[in-house]
Amino acid sequence: MNMPMIAEDRLMCESEWGHTEFESKALRNLLGCYPTGVAIVTTRTADGRDVGLTINSFASLSLDPPLVLWSLVNHSPNLDVFRDCTHFTINILAKDHQELALRFANPRITNKFEDVAMHITPEGIPALHGAIATLVCENHKQDHIGDHLLMIGHVRRIGSENGKPLIFHSGSFTALHDAQLAQETL
Ligand SMILES: Cc1cc2nc3c(=O)[nH]c(=O)nc-3n(C[C@H](O)[C@H](O)[C@H](O)COP(=O)(O)O)c2cc1C
Repeated sequence: MNMPMIAEDRLMCESEWGHTEFESKALRNLLGCYPTGVAIVTTRTADGRDVGLTINSFASLSLDPPLVLWSLVNHSPNLDVFRDCTHFTINILAKDHQELALRFANPRITNKFEDVAMHITPEGIPALHGAIATLVCENHKQDHIGDHLLMIGHVRRIGSENGKPLIFHSGSFTALHDAQLAQETL
């Protein structure tokens, strides 16, 4: 009879596996092992000021209707701007856009858009030249959840250019390398 062994193993798993108490820094480091792309989200205020920041919280949410999401930290000076905007663009960065990613993540730069090639979408929102994908979104829904404002966008216009994405992994920028895995088309 090996039943008691199984029960013992399970008990050991429940009591010893993982950490139920952890600092947010440990959680942040652990989440860093999940690689993401990098995007710059932009909008224009009613009085014509361009606003943008680097994000990696972007994710797809729904295809029908076409919805995407991202989140903005609650202490952002632009919380009201994004909460109240009509549209925003998500600009997915190419692998040679590391400097732009750092620029739009730097709160000390007063005009992040200076000398950055942008075009204006028909919705009147700046979009980055050279982004490998651009999604123009109507501001669909917002919700304060935890320490972030969850932003949900209804995708109204899309555009793309050839290029490989910039990747963020374990706190650093990197790029995709030729995989040794057999390529499967999903
Ligand atoms: C790779 C990367 C990803 C980031 N992702 C987010 C994000 O998803 N949400 C967020 O609020 N800030 C994110 N940040 C931090 C903002 O870019 C940074 O706080 C920036 O200064 C905000 O601009 P602002 O202060 O002009 O609003 C990220 C920074 C980097 C470098």
